[in-house]
Amino acid sequence: MRNIFVQGFCCLLLSTTTMPTAFAADKTAHNYCQLAPVRSDALDFPSKHAWDLFLMLNHPAVDREIERGRADCARPIGDPGSTTVWESWRNAGKIGVQGEVFLKDGVEPPDWNDTTIPDEKPGQVPKEAITRVQAFSGSDRQPIDPRQISFHDWALIDKAKPQFSPGDGIFEGGGAFGETRLNRETFEFIKRNCLWSKDGLRRYAQAYQDGKKPLIVFPPGAMEVKAAWIDLEREKVPKEKWNTFYSADYKGKKYGLMTLHVITKDIPNWFWASFHHKDQLSFGDKLEPGIETPDEFGQPSALKGTVWENYVLGGTQIEFDSSTGAPTMLSDAHVEKGFVRSSCITCHSTAVISPDDTKSVASQAAAMCILTPTVPEFDLDPKGCREIIGDKYFMKDDKLVAERGAPLPEWYMKNDKLFFIQTDFLYSLPQRAQKEMNSPPKRCVW
Ligand code: HEC
Repeated sequence: MRNIFVQGFCCLLLSTTTMPTAFAADKTAHNYCQLAPVRSDALDFPSKHAWDLFLMLNHPAVDREIERGRADCARPIGDPGSTTVWESWRNAGKIGVQGEVFLKDGVEPPDWNDTTIPDEKPGQVPKEAITRVQAFSGSDRQPIDPRQISFHDWALIDKAKPQFSPGDGIFEGGGAFGETRLNRETFEFIKRNCLWSKDGLRRYAQAYQDGKKPLIVFPPGAMEVKAAWIDLEREKVPKEKWNTFYSADYKGKKYGLMTLHVITKDIPNWFWASFHHKDQLSFGDKLEPGIETPDEFGQPSALKGTVWENYVLGGTQIEFDSSTGAPTMLSDAHVEKGFVRSSCITCHSTAVISPDDTKSVASQAAAMCILTPTVPEFDLDPKGCREIIGDKYFMKDDKLVAERGAPLPEWYMKNDKLFFIQTDFLYSLPQRAQKEMNSPPKRCVW
């Protein structure tokens, strides 16, 4: 709300200030960008912070051929036909699909703004949606200079490259993982520290052991998103509801954005937030609801009348445990299907690398056993979990002695030494990096 007020205020200032004639044409150009999120809000007002991030990430982007990750301030959020900022970030790819970061044969990815690696069709705000923003899509939205031409306009002049990668982010009905994208700070840290290949990760873990490298800590501006899309037809979403989704067309099919997980390095162990479509439980198979936290801020009014008003905040997470020592939890019905009794931060704390490529006891399975020892979808039962995390965590009747939010130091140790190095909560590194087939750049050998 404050954002709207401030925005209204600056527009008032703009229109009453006398402008030099050279800028006369800009007089009617609105700046539709919201204020940047305030870092300290991550701890002080987590729900507000989550919504501020939502506004920033889902703002229309300028075409990625011009610049990746830049908001098009000449367009309002939810402008029909627009594509979001996060979709102009780099696609992490998935196992078997190289994406734009962890490339085949472990080669170094090109610079941030390079767009030579194909990334398919992006999502768009549905054009048919009757939205409030259409009301001001008149002359005040005329592109002012070529750098402000929106993705959609480029598409019209036949310049746009498709981005949406089907298979990456489409929810397949089995708790599938989604499309992951990295912002510039995250991507450049990976490049700077040679963390884009399996061998690079192994070398880094060894360099840590040898005292040549510090632990992996991403910079304060780092962010990642994970999006889960559904095939609207297959999930039996009634046709009249299709326009309530941010959607992507691909090969004659329409996909709707169901869930958006957002993480930012606004706090040392990351700020965790989950958004989803408001009707997510009413389509397709019956789903167990995710474990959510209350939205203490409420949807920003800037989203009213746009496709984004159909999305709700599933919750935020900022710590492993509550003030009483109970583990905090957060999950989404679609993405964490089958293991909703889970914790983003706990599971992600088990993302590790090691000098010899071995896996630690700390694995997703361990993180899940410690919260939910019965997950048939993942072949986990109390007996198996006793083997993974040890008998001492169980009472006689297979109940956990205590659910654990915080990871255990022993998960990361070997011979009493820290051996399994965390990738700072990011799973895309150990999961997606590929084997190196040629020698790495000299700067990557320590
Ligand atoms: C049981 C373990 C587990 C839980 C619980 C979990 N994740 Fe993940 N997450 C993963 C794995 C594994 C990946 C990597 C696979 C991928 O990128 O698709 C991942 C990927 C991600 C990514 C992409 C960035 C990256 O490199 O890790 C984001 C963002 C993310 N998860 C957010 C969340 C949020 C928010 C929650 C809680 C609502 C959550 N995750 C819960 C295991 C988990």
